[in-house]
Amino acid sequence: MLQNSIESTTDRAWPQEGWTRVPFWVYTDPDLYQRELDTFFYGPSWNYVALECEVPEKGSYKRSWIGERQVVVVRGEEDQIYVWENRCAHRGARLCWKNKGKEESFTCPYHQWNFALDGALQGVPLKRGVLSKGGMPADFDNAEHSLKRLHVHVEGGSIWASFHESPPSFESYSGPEVMRNLKRQFPGKKLRLLGYNRQKIDSNWKLYFENLKDPYHATLLHSFLITFGLWRADTQSESIPSVSGHSTMVSSNVGKKRQKQPARLRVSKRHWS
Ligand code: FES
Ligand SMILES: [Fe+2]
Repeated sequence: MLQNSIESTTDRAWPQEGWTRVPFWVYTDPDLYQRELDTFFYGPSWNYVALECEVPEKGSYKRSWIGERQVVVVRGEEDQIYVWENRCAHRGARLCWKNKGKEESFTCPYHQWNFALDGALQGVPLKRGVLSKGGMPADFDNAEHSLKRLHVHVEGGSIWASFHESPPSFESYSGPEVMRNLKRQFPGKKLRLLGYNRQKIDSNWKLYFENLKDPYHATLLHSFLITFGLWRADTQSESIPSVSGHSTMVSSNVGKKRQKQPARLRVSKRHWS
């Protein structure tokens, strides 16, 4: 009953209580979701795509996502990092079919157009046609048919990309508070990849994001965190909004009541993958 009344809501007015009340339709409205994709993921924004250590050598690549679009992060000639959309410039087929690997170039499985590591088109089979028939027009220029390249920013070993034609600088987009915290997380030390921990969640991006900003449930629901004293109700935590429209979540053990006999955490040598 409650669910029906939420889904049939046509009045999209915000509750009178103000910004501290988020109505349920915000999480499920398809038009709003599309606007979010265009603004937060494909607009003048920066999105995290990979770590530099995941693409250690020339030709190393890794697939990643920005919103609902798949991208490929590649280390190209002279150590430069490229990010391009995983969609062939010809008829839009998926170009790269593995999650990670190493290649000298990328060939589309459909009509085998070949692209360099930086996304430039470098080969078109049957470009002049067959027996004087078909083929590309005489003025066909490879340079006009590169893959969709994204702007790239590398911050202390983390790689960020933007679909926008002229995005703001990474620093001004992030704002000073977030930059300060990012530089603490990624001070430029060489990173080592331990493995991957993947979760598949049947929701759009908002539910997961909201969940991360909700330490309240973690002190009650996640017995692992409570048992080992990693996160408890007396943990000091704060979500700090910044002028740039982002926020940082910080937590501290300062002032936390000590357990007499805290459970001991055995660290396994096994690497998760
Ligand atoms: S769609 Fe990729 S070569 Fe035709
Ligand atoms: Fe949780």
